[in-house]
Amino acid sequence: MLEIVFTDGRIGSKAVKIVGVSENAKIVSKALNDDETALVKKAVVQSGFKGKNGTFVEVFGPNGKIIIAGLGDKPDAVALQKLGGALAKKLFKDAVACYYVEEIKGCKLSLAEIAHNVAFGLTVGSYRFDKYFTKKKQEEYPSLEQVILKVKNPEAVNESYRRFAALGNAVRYARDLCNEPANYLTPEVFADDIQRLSYLGLDIEILDKKALQEKEFGMLLSVAQGSCNDPRVAIIQWRGKPDQVEFDCGLVGKGVTFDSGGISLKPGTGMGDMKRDMTGAAVVVSSLKALALQKAPVNVIGIVGLVENMPDAMATRPGDVVTSLSGQTVEILNTDAEGRLVLGDIMWYLQSNYNVHTLIDIATLTGATMRALGNQYAGIFCNNDKLCNELIKAGEASDEKLWRLPLGEGYNKMINSDIADMKNLGGVNAGGSTAACFLERFVQKGNAWAHLDIAGVDTEDKGSPLCPKGSTGFGVRVLNYYLNAKS
Ligand code: BES
Ligand code: ZN
Ligand code: ZN
Repeated sequence: MLEIVFTDGRIGSKAVKIVGVSENAKIVSKALNDDETALVKKAVVQSGFKGKNGTFVEVFGPNGKIIIAGLGDKPDAVALQKLGGALAKKLFKDAVACYYVEEIKGCKLSLAEIAHNVAFGLTVGSYRFDKYFTKKKQEEYPSLEQVILKVKNPEAVNESYRRFAALGNAVRYARDLCNEPANYLTPEVFADDIQRLSYLGLDIEILDKKALQEKEFGMLLSVAQGSCNDPRVAIIQWRGKPDQVEFDCGLVGKGVTFDSGGISLKPGTGMGDMKRDMTGAAVVVSSLKALALQKAPVNVIGIVGLVENMPDAMATRPGDVVTSLSGQTVEILNTDAEGRLVLGDIMWYLQSNYNVHTLIDIATLTGATMRALGNQYAGIFCNNDKLCNELIKAGEASDEKLWRLPLGEGYNKMINSDIADMKNLGGVNAGGSTAACFLERFVQKGNAWAHLDIAGVDTEDKGSPLCPKGSTGFGVRVLNYYLNAKS
């Protein structure tokens, strides 16, 4: 993994020199001597470089390579993160580089914050998932080992970077889990990986199939019963405020390690992406990892339901009726609408057994929300305006944006069943809202609850500055910004 170093010391001559320049600004940097400045200015004119964010000019000076990095106009934290991500790609074949952190005209961030955000962008933007290649050539791998950020007060910057470093680690962890194929990441393997995190001071409990049967997780088990990979539920606690009994927040994650659709089998095209139907769970686990690494002064409990949805002989049939942990009965009309079944039971379990009154669930839940919002926003459904606004604000700050979609009695009655308390399918329209109304039936009285539907944002197809192709780990950042604002 790429090493990030903050220093005010001498920089070795082999390091690529990186200097940031705002849009349409003059080239003035203490990092460049007169000869270098002249060289750079010439290259800037010749190439028509204007300083737009994510654009670069590269020159070879007498002391080695210099990269002029466009910062854009009055860059904010997110723009600097994106610049860091673009740099990770640009520096792919270099070994060591040094970014000279200098004041930026019109930018409200401190020098330390500029350094943090560029470093964070480098950390998440350099993520790759290449463990399964056996024939890739050496030159196809990155050579970049270290990026130095030259700052005036490295100790202080290093200390305050801890929050971002932890978050970068957690985003990468979520992506690793989500990119892992489902034949490797079974519910059992996922649970073992979660258990390992106890070294961070997290309190972790795993419920196996027998425990889930004893406790009567009827909906969750109905999803799992078509697979030979047994289900697990993991409960993870972070108590950053040990003197406070109550949890500030409960996080709930959908962890379907593979969603074939079950007997209501999905079409073949794109089914491979359903290995990522556990993104919600990965985000919850990674969020708790981030809090533990940050030693955040907040009490948070996470619960994830880990199951595989397969069409074996024992699988649930469309038309079956099951009894949930809450006692409410559900007619299962489509076995592909399985996420709500898993979430309903674990939400109920969390509220019944722990002192938690604010709940956020996160799930790759519906194609309907994906079609409505594409990859620009995740959908948020919420029974509490304050919670909703706080999450939307955290989404803007972290660039994991949320768009509020409606709940309401009109949608809720669409899931009434003729033979049971409810059915797991709404009508042909408003699939995101009817799914959310199903979940709302498992929210206990008085509790604040938000549901994040991340079906459209869990994957990056084309590759962006902060994420190559594959899993984005969407949710880790917005939840971390939200939880840190609470502490
Ligand atoms: N895991 C899917 C939702 C999904 C779709 C996630 C596309 C990511 C990309 C979920 O379990 C599902 O299949 N939902 C169905 C529900 C329907 C049968 C009511 C859907 O949205 O099509
Ligand atoms: Zn499904
Ligand atoms: Zn699913």
